[in-house]
Amino acid sequence: MEHELVITERGRRSGLPITVAVHATGRGMAAGGCRLEHYPHWRDGLDDALRLSAAMTGKCAVAGLPLGGGKTVVTLPDRRAPAPAARRDLLHDVGDVIASLDGRYATGPDVGTGPDDMTVIAERTRHVFCRPRSAGGSGDSSPHTAAGVLAALRTVCADRFGSADLAGRSFAILGLGRVGAHIAALLAAAGARLIAADVDTARRVVAARHGATWVSPRDCLTAAVDVLVPAALGGLLTAASVPALRCAAIAGPANNQLDAAGTAGLLHERGILWAPDIAVSAGGLIHATAVELLHETPERAAARVHGIGDTLAAILNTARTDAVSPATVVDQLVARSLGPVGSRPKPA
Ligand code: PHE
Repeated sequence: MEHELVITERGRRSGLPITVAVHATGRGMAAGGCRLEHYPHWRDGLDDALRLSAAMTGKCAVAGLPLGGGKTVVTLPDRRAPAPAARRDLLHDVGDVIASLDGRYATGPDVGTGPDDMTVIAERTRHVFCRPRSAGGSGDSSPHTAAGVLAALRTVCADRFGSADLAGRSFAILGLGRVGAHIAALLAAAGARLIAADVDTARRVVAARHGATWVSPRDCLTAAVDVLVPAALGGLLTAASVPALRCAAIAGPANNQLDAAGTAGLLHERGILWAPDIAVSAGGLIHATAVELLHETPERAAARVHGIGDTLAAILNTARTDAVSPATVVDQLVARSLGPVGSRPKPA
């Protein structure tokens, strides 16, 4: 068993399946957001929680944070967001499961949740990041995730095109949710040329606001651009999709972009630079934990988020020197930081 602890429980109030997966706490308490998503079966939600929590362990290790990886997944019965009363019930159910873990795991926002939801979870447990600032938390994590992605995009452009300047470069943003919309705004402000897509056609207005050309998700994925920015759900890079790509590089905040580890090799063979998602997407987590756990100033936290650019530059340099893919470098980095199973330090 790769994970330390996995709980799936039917919420007492909501009746919905809630999974909390704690992958590793060798570096410290496990952290990872709470995702509300529709899956065909609760076992699919469980599988996703297992994958996402393992990725959080890597994210914390690469970011140098004293944390392990965890994740919460609530499997929704359909694609609609729950009505307010039902949402409250299910967030209280989530809070109870987290409370039962007694500090081994703390949650935060993720796909389908935001700062206000964290306040509701916090009515049942104190192990919650990113409550609104008015409620004593570090607030919405998405602008910080986006800031980290921007730092990563500059590094990618410097590595791939010889200049960190984003002006005039073309980007395809796949997903205009909380984080994707912030990235669109930042890239537009930097003078980049944008195309964008989202499965939710109502987000077309977000594209228009930032001067991005609206296309279908499929056309966005395969657009002839400098950089593809995956900012929606994971699993988009597959043995089937990689041959159709026409971008020179890929870097974005979506978690688990590869359907399987071997897909990184396919991208590498095609000469497409893939910046590992666990390095690129860490801004929200870094900011929240710097402010709420390490009690750093907002300025110091912002500097840490910006440091994602340097972290990624070091990864890309090593990849070039060793003639391996950036994914291989990151895998080695994570393995080294965790040590062999059994010899890992005990959580404090
Ligand atoms: N859900 C985000 C991530 O995957 C951000 C986050 C998680 C922020 C946990 C704080 C705590 O990294």
